[in-house]
Amino acid sequence: MSRVNYRVEPSAEVGGDVVVPGDKSISHRALLLGGIAEGVSRASGFLASEDCLATLRAMSALGVSIDRPSPTEIVVHGVGRSGFTPPVEALDMGNAGTAMRLFMGLLSAQAFDSTLVGDRSLMRRPMERVAAPLRSMGAQIATTAGRPPVVIRGGHELKSIDFAMPLASAQVKSAVLLAGLYAAGTTRVREPAPSRDHTEHMLRAFGVAVEQRGTLIELVGRQTLRAAQLVIPGDISSAAFFLVAGALAAPQGLCLRNVGINPTRTGILTLLRAMGADLVVTEHPGPTSEPAADITVRASRLRGIDVPRDVVPLAIDEFPVFFIAAACAEGTTTLRGAEELRVKESDRLAVMSVGLNTVGVEHELLPDGIRIVGGRRLRGGRVDSHGDHRIAMAFAIASLAADEPIEILDTANVATSFPGFERMAQAVGLRLEVRPPDAQSGDSR
Ligand code: S3P
Repeated sequence: MSRVNYRVEPSAEVGGDVVVPGDKSISHRALLLGGIAEGVSRASGFLASEDCLATLRAMSALGVSIDRPSPTEIVVHGVGRSGFTPPVEALDMGNAGTAMRLFMGLLSAQAFDSTLVGDRSLMRRPMERVAAPLRSMGAQIATTAGRPPVVIRGGHELKSIDFAMPLASAQVKSAVLLAGLYAAGTTRVREPAPSRDHTEHMLRAFGVAVEQRGTLIELVGRQTLRAAQLVIPGDISSAAFFLVAGALAAPQGLCLRNVGINPTRTGILTLLRAMGADLVVTEHPGPTSEPAADITVRASRLRGIDVPRDVVPLAIDEFPVFFIAAACAEGTTTLRGAEELRVKESDRLAVMSVGLNTVGVEHELLPDGIRIVGGRRLRGGRVDSHGDHRIAMAFAIASLAADEPIEILDTANVATSFPGFERMAQAVGLRLEVRPPDAQSGDSR
C-alpha cells in the first residue's frame, strides 16, 4: 500500500451529525458464514474496508461467488460447509488478523491444503493461540516460530474439544467454534472473561444452535447453515474516534448514527462515562441484526480513572484513542492487564508511548499497560503510526487538544478499517490534510 501521511492543524471545535460505517468484525463474519451456508445470503451495512475485502477475495479464491450490488451490500452465494474449491495460491489476508485466525478454523477442516499469508504487520503476529487448539481437534497446521505463513494440511477429520481459553480472545473462540462446525460431537469453549460474541450471534442467524451458559459456549458439530439476511450496524470501534473528539471539543454536541452497541463491544462507553463524558445513547429498534443506537456526545471536563480489568476485552481496540482522552483528562489514568495491546497491528503500548512523548504527554509505560498523567495542552510534532490504522486516527483526534500541528506518518492503513475517515473528520471540523510522504523531511521508508 502506498504511504501517505496526515497533517492535522489544531482546531477548537467539532460538531454535526455523522453515520458511522459498518462493523468490521461483523462484516468479516457475514462473508465467512454466508460462504459456508446453503443458499444465498445478503448483508447490508457491509464495511468495504481493505481488511474485509481481503476476506472477500479469499472467499472468492475458495470458489464462493459474491456480488456487490452497492459498496455496502454483499450477496453471498453459499457453497455449503464442504463446498469450497482448493485455492490455486496462498490466501493473502493483508493486515487482517481476524481474517487469518477465523480462516484457520474453517480451512483446518477442509479436504485440501492451504497457506495463509499477510502484510508485514500480520506476518509478525502470533498464530499459535489458534493453531494449538485446532491441532488438539486433529488439524495439521504449521506456523513459522508461531507466526505466519500458516500452512494447513487438509484431509484430517476433526474431533470436538472442550477448550479452556487462556485469554479472552474472540478470534480464538471463533476459530475453534468454526472448526467445531465440522467436528463430530459437541465443541465447548470456556472464556476467562467475555469477549465479543458476534460469531455466536451470527451462527444463530444462520440457524445453528449455539448454547451459552455463563462463560461456556458450546455447539454440536455438523449442523447445516441456512442462508441469512443481515443488516450490519455501524462499528463502535470507528465511532470511538468521534466519541473522544466530541467529549473533548463538541460544545453543541456531535451525533453518531447507527452505532452497534452489542454489550461485548461497549467498553469504551463505560470508560468514557466513568471519566465524566456526556453521552446520550438512544437505542433504535431498527432493522439491524445486532443492537444499534444513535449516540450524542457533548464536551465535558474529563477526569482520570483506573480502567477496571474486566472492561479491557470489551474496549480492546479503542485504547489508542482512549489514551488521547486520558491525556486530556484531569489527573491520572491507569490501565493494567492489557498486554494483548502489544500484539495488535503494532505494539500499541510502545507505539502510543512514543507518540505521547512527541506531543508532550507525561506517562509511564508498564509491561501490561500505561499510566497517563493528563490535563495539559498537547504539543505538535511528528508521530509515526507504524502503519497502525487506529494509532493514526487517535493522533488525528489529539489535534483537538494541541497548540501546534501534528503530522502523522504512514497512515494508508486507515483504509483497513475506516475508509472515509479523512472526509468524516473534516466534516465534523478537524483540519486534517492527507499528504504524500515528504522526501525532504526524511520520511523515505
Ligand atoms: C476481533 C477480535 C479482537 C479485536 C479484533 C477483532 C474479532 O481480537 O482486537 O480487532 O473480530 O474477533 P482478539 O480476539 O485477538 O482479542
